[in-house]
Amino acid sequence: MTDLAFDAVEIIRRKRDGAMLSAQEIDWVIDAYTRGLVADEQMSALAMAIFFRGMNRQEVARWTDAMIRSGERLDFSSILGPGKKLATVDKHSTGGVGDKITLPLAPLLAVYGLAVPQLSGRGLGHTGGTLDKLEAIEGWQASLSNERTLEILGSVGAVISAAGAGLAPADKKLYALRDATSTVESIPLIASSIMSKKIAEGTGALVLDVKVGSGAFMKDQAQARQLAEIMVELGQDAGVKTRALLTNMDTPLGLAVGNACEVAESVEVLAGGGPADVVELTLELARTMLDLAGVEADPAQALADGRAMDKWRQMIAAQGGNPDAPLPQARESQVVYAPESGVLTRLDALAVGVASWRLGAGRARKEDPVQAAAGILLHAKPGDRVTAGQPLMTLMTDTPERFDRALAALEGSWSLGEEHTPSPLILDRL
Ligand code: URA
Repeated sequence: MTDLAFDAVEIIRRKRDGAMLSAQEIDWVIDAYTRGLVADEQMSALAMAIFFRGMNRQEVARWTDAMIRSGERLDFSSILGPGKKLATVDKHSTGGVGDKITLPLAPLLAVYGLAVPQLSGRGLGHTGGTLDKLEAIEGWQASLSNERTLEILGSVGAVISAAGAGLAPADKKLYALRDATSTVESIPLIASSIMSKKIAEGTGALVLDVKVGSGAFMKDQAQARQLAEIMVELGQDAGVKTRALLTNMDTPLGLAVGNACEVAESVEVLAGGGPADVVELTLELARTMLDLAGVEADPAQALADGRAMDKWRQMIAAQGGNPDAPLPQARESQVVYAPESGVLTRLDALAVGVASWRLGAGRARKEDPVQAAAGILLHAKPGDRVTAGQPLMTLMTDTPERFDRALAALEGSWSLGEEHTPSPLILDRL
């Protein structure tokens, strides 16, 4: 196809007016955008047209495929030789608050001989990034060559690292643009963004944790289910065994929201303890992934007997990290107290995520640094009874001038009452 085969303005106009884009138009626009021939402002307009007009299944499949073809495809089959016949398995979360599940899950699955290549990202906005969390560990390196990733996968079984620049570069450019133009929350754009990376990564099996609720991109269950269905279909069509869970993100996962504090909470889970919801989701995802790989085992045992912790230590050390080093502590903290006695009936995930971000745990622009020790420790979760004057949460930062804006984000984010109706963590399975 030549650079002049299509015209970006015409493609934008057609999508703006509700037309279905042809396979050739999609291939051209993704390729031309990756090479800088379609300008950012044109792609922004197209993303907004897609946001309002949507894309049908055929268009989404082609869009995903074009983004995969914009870069390299990884191949992990070399580690699956004799005696290592188990599949590569991966999980992807659509993003939530306090979502540190990848940290205990990857080493837990490696205990059972699975190869777990978790190519992860950094946080942008109120949702945290797995790499930012792990970088709180002294010496830990996120960037690895493809060769080193394969080596660690072969020796340890689990690796959590930064996706290389060669993987779906069209998505890298487009995601940054969507973030800056308020076009992230579009089902076809999210589905193609996530699945292009996962398919290009070459995993054999994939479990998607699709978050639903105030702290998630998808605010209601019907939308989340639609997103999950499209992603499962894209995965299956590409030969990746794919399943999805819809899980609740109205309130943060666990009691820690931030970077170092989420590592500490993950280590508690690996030591056989930790908050009930983090343990429940880790085990539910582990069971689904073991099932996809055809392994019969109860993953709770490896948390209880220390095998998952051993794998964690190996995994961290393989990337230069010191699993015994103390985690950074924030220089300043401020406690929010319950003004009266009652049952905590609501604690809003989005507000806690935004407050943690404002304390320094997240970044506003992708080149900003994050503070390892910033974040929020929750002392009560919905359903807990508290008495007047009891601490509800502790805010932590190295830069105390951030407290006011974080406290402003938390205003009206929790309620005390008499009755709390618990909602399930796992809402649906596909
Ligand atoms: N995560 C991604 O990788 N892409 C999206 O579009 C949304 C969440």
